[in-house]
Amino acid sequence: MTATVSGPPADQAPSARRGSYWITTFGCQMNKADSERMAGILEAMGYRPGSDEHTADLVLYNTCTIRDNAEQKVYSYLGRQARRKRINPALTLVVAGCVAQQEGESLLRRVPELDLVMGPQHANRLEALLTRVENGQQVVATEEHHILEDITAARRDSAVCAWVNVIYGCNEHCTYCVVPAVRGREQSRRPEAIRAEMAELAARGFREITLLGQNIDAYGRDLPGITSEGRRAHTLTDLLHAVHDVRGIERIRFATSHPRYFTDRLIDACADLPRVCEHFHIPFQSGDDEVLRAMARGYTVERYRRIIDRIRDRIPDAAISADVIVAFPGETDTQYRRTLDLIEAIGFDQVNTAAYSPRPGTPAADWPDQLPEAVKVERLREINALVEKVAGQRSARYLGRREQVLAEGLNPRDPSQLMGRTRTNRLTFFAADPGDGRLHRPGDLVDVVIEAVRPFSLSGRPLGRGEVR
Ligand code: SAH
Ligand code: SF4
Ligand code: F3S
Repeated sequence: MTATVSGPPADQAPSARRGSYWITTFGCQMNKADSERMAGILEAMGYRPGSDEHTADLVLYNTCTIRDNAEQKVYSYLGRQARRKRINPALTLVVAGCVAQQEGESLLRRVPELDLVMGPQHANRLEALLTRVENGQQVVATEEHHILEDITAARRDSAVCAWVNVIYGCNEHCTYCVVPAVRGREQSRRPEAIRAEMAELAARGFREITLLGQNIDAYGRDLPGITSEGRRAHTLTDLLHAVHDVRGIERIRFATSHPRYFTDRLIDACADLPRVCEHFHIPFQSGDDEVLRAMARGYTVERYRRIIDRIRDRIPDAAISADVIVAFPGETDTQYRRTLDLIEAIGFDQVNTAAYSPRPGTPAADWPDQLPEAVKVERLREINALVEKVAGQRSARYLGRREQVLAEGLNPRDPSQLMGRTRTNRLTFFAADPGDGRLHRPGDLVDVVIEAVRPFSLSGRPLGRGEVR
């Protein structure tokens, strides 16, 4: 049999023939990275990718519980699969990720048809857990677990850009957030393991790496070692220096940054290391100091502004994006308006917005001053309109400029076009054919002259391979 794009890597012959699998992923990049590793494990076990959620022999939902609506979505999906399992008991049903961790055994009571409930720390153990299922057990794996170094090649969704976890878990105590409860304590990977994974990805043709952590600035604080100057031996800045020159990797990104731990050294590294892209994702959550204190975020608006000033001082064109929560318990209209003011004042390239959602087991969920749904809806609507306006103003600066775009794939709406992102992370569309018939392909770094700008994307004319840069 010849290898196909979706087949297991040639050096990992399937140990047995099994049926087809389907994975649906909810939530953040950590979940997407976990899903890619779990897909790799399934394929190494002999499963092949299915074409349909409703006919696959194994269905895995990798779930998110960050807000209530994310969680509810899973239950409606599960209801349909449970009915299918009652007709076809051979179906294997798996719930992984953060809802699995949060709910554990109680998920089995709610959906007795489930075969396996597994928390995110167990993603790399999927094969061992499925073996127990094949032996007739119903399995719940949610205990605190030391995350094993990955031994299976992930099945990556993109052939150009890949995620690489550098730190798992989160030790913060933000009063609204379930992540520490579902992802556990911080566990940093060794720099050598991260570099080795990047080198292996480069050898397989990947061009861009995003280093991942819920609080990536915490990288290394759980690793031993002190430098001769008395500093921690392992920080995110040191990691960037240690991996920036992996051959074949053209671009390096990292997320998510935490304003509490963000350092000037990190900004300097980003300015100095040519492959580290000029984009920072630094959630601020609220533009009001009292709300920030109630959230236990550990910084002030003033500190946040100083970070942005410093970035712009060193890297004037840097793109800045963030996450923000509106209608946090007790947030007054005045406090909410400070968040709007900060968005205008900073001029964010992109802001992910959310209305506060009370999460079980988090302190803020029990506070008496919860805001009514109508306030949440109205604040969200207003802030989204502002984010779009400000993003549009930021996009305007690209008009007429020549931008380097890494082609990631075809534009699904127009297959004559490629899409990719600028170094600053703006999605950009351009014709695959620069006019001379020598088509650009995914993985190419293409100079594109920007001719149309929209709040969250750009379009332009690609220069040909031979054209002067
Ligand atoms: N580690 C990152 C974010 C992780 S969760 C950080 O510290 O910023 C992703 C985003 O979801 C958060 O930035 C926050 O804006 C949002 N979020 C988290 N919990 C939420 C809740 N209970 N209600 C609404 N939004 C929430
Ligand atoms: Fe949640 Fe705060 Fe940790 Fe981010 S830093 S994952 S918001 S607890
Ligand atoms: Fe959701 Fe878990 Fe990520 S709760 S946002 S999938 S860490």
